[in-house]
Amino acid sequence: MSLKDKEKWNAKYDSSTCLAGREPSRWLVDHAGLLAGKGKALDIAMGEGRNTLFAASLGYDVFGVDISEVGVSRAEALARKNNLTIHSRIADLDHYKIDENAYDLILCFYFLDRRLFEGIRKGLKPGGTLIYETFTVDYLQYSGFKREWVLEKNELREAFPGLKVLDYQEINEPENETAYASLVARKD
Ligand SMILES: C[S@@+](CC[C@H](N)C(=O)[O-])C[C@H]1O[C@@H](n2cnc3c(N)ncnc32)[C@H](O)[C@@H]1O
Repeated sequence: MSLKDKEKWNAKYDSSTCLAGREPSRWLVDHAGLLAGKGKALDIAMGEGRNTLFAASLGYDVFGVDISEVGVSRAEALARKNNLTIHSRIADLDHYKIDENAYDLILCFYFLDRRLFEGIRKGLKPGGTLIYETFTVDYLQYSGFKREWVLEKNELREAFPGLKVLDYQEINEPENETAYASLVARKD
């Protein structure tokens, strides 16, 4: 992977002014009331930072990781424009170790690497929250995605043993040609 993914995502971001939009994910906004808004947060595959910035605006000290320097530099520029501080690192998540017991909040939106699941669980501090959303198998009918890139039914709900599931949904929206699962879970 690595170089191929980096080039692919840089090209995608280069070809658009803002790929995922500037608005934070609805699922994150809708569950902001569950979040303490203090401590450290990690945004996995931060992209152009729509959710990174939202977490920073809640009061988190947010650290984002992504392989695309184009995405990350846009996120940083947007943070400066909004007088928010974020920290970011350009890194390949295929070879990334999440610090253990380090985060009060972990976000992962529209990125799936199952090898990170254990690290995500261990990365949360006790009381820490995970908010995750990405495509499910139903999305295959709307896209040329490979099956390994999407979640199976109920997979996200069961992916983090030991975390308490606070909310979960699986959505299929033929009218918008999208299908995804969303999770909020907490480490006791
Ligand atoms: C669909 S975008 C989602 C971005 C962001 N989470 C959001 O929802 O707006 C997927 C992101 O994953 C990043 N990515 C893909 N492969 C990666 C890898 N191996 N390591 C780090 N980031 C990667 C891409 O650069 C891209 O920003």
